[in-house]
Amino acid sequence: MPPPLHVSFIAGRTGTWRIDSMSTVRGEPLALAERLMIVEGQEATPHSDMQWALRGVTSNTRYTHKTELEHLVDKQEGLRRLQATCAAFIPIRKTAAWWDLAQDERRAIFEEQSGHIRIGMDYLPAIARRLHHSRELGEAFDFLTWFEYAPEHAEAFDDMLRKLRNIAEWQYIDREIDIRLSRSA
Ligand code: HEM
Repeated sequence: MPPPLHVSFIAGRTGTWRIDSMSTVRGEPLALAERLMIVEGQEATPHSDMQWALRGVTSNTRYTHKTELEHLVDKQEGLRRLQATCAAFIPIRKTAAWWDLAQDERRAIFEEQSGHIRIGMDYLPAIARRLHHSRELGEAFDFLTWFEYAPEHAEAFDDMLRKLRNIAEWQYIDREIDIRLSRSA
């Protein structure tokens, strides 16, 4: 498990990723912006044309069982593959009811009832992912989820999202913004 990495997602007029669309799935929207800059491992300096900045940190797994982890490690690929010129940035907040549950109740909803990992696994290695925790940092969202894929896998990504948004776990999500991005090859 790599050590925690602090990551800032800064929306404004500069950054490698062009924002192609922003849609509010649930809750309060975020201000529209043109580009997204990702700063890893250091405090990001705020700049004048910044629309918003969200911070998160990578962490150890909470819910994944040993065999699931082994399958993930076998199947998943890293970020920054040359062909992965599309990305999705999906900040998510979960409800107080979710956080009131015990860890074993959350795991049961997350996987036994919902099959989050079972669903996601079918889309590896086409989709590369990185999960950032934000709740501990006192941020507006609990999680910042980041995905990268090649344009030919954009439909598969949408297919996976349709499935995930129907599972029991998603009933505990009260804020979700779906931001799609692209960069030149
Ligand atoms: C690409 C396929 C995907 C795979 C293989 C996958 C796998 C996982 C795994 C293994 C975890 C648990 C980490 C832990 O043990 O702490 C997790 C957590 C999470 N995933 Fe996914 N996921 C996928 C897609 C997605 C998508 C598309 C979204 C958002 C739209 C998403 C949102 C989340 C969130 C918010 C968590 C944290 C849940 C919590 O701690 O309460 N995942 N995912």
